[in-house]
Amino acid sequence: MLGGLAFGALVLRMAQVTIETIRNGPYIVTGEVELIDAAGTKFPVEKRMALCRCGASTEKPFCDGTHSKIGFQAAEKAVPESKE
Ligand code: FES
Repeated sequence: MLGGLAFGALVLRMAQVTIETIRNGPYIVTGEVELIDAAGTKFPVEKRMALCRCGASTEKPFCDGTHSKIGFQAAEKAVPESKE
């Protein structure tokens, strides 16, 4: 089994996933993940994807490059106090 451990019927996956923010751009997700939208639609598993962070993409949840056309300015640091 690739990337996981099997114990009887229980399968544990050891995912290696990173999420990186691009300056004034998308989130880059690297690693095999399952992406499911609010309607329950599942997207094909990809090893790398760019997810829109600006909200203006016409291909949500994916980045289509619109962030650079609209001059998107993102917060560059996570703010621990913003946890809810
Ligand atoms: S982050 Fe690229 S289109 Fe939104």
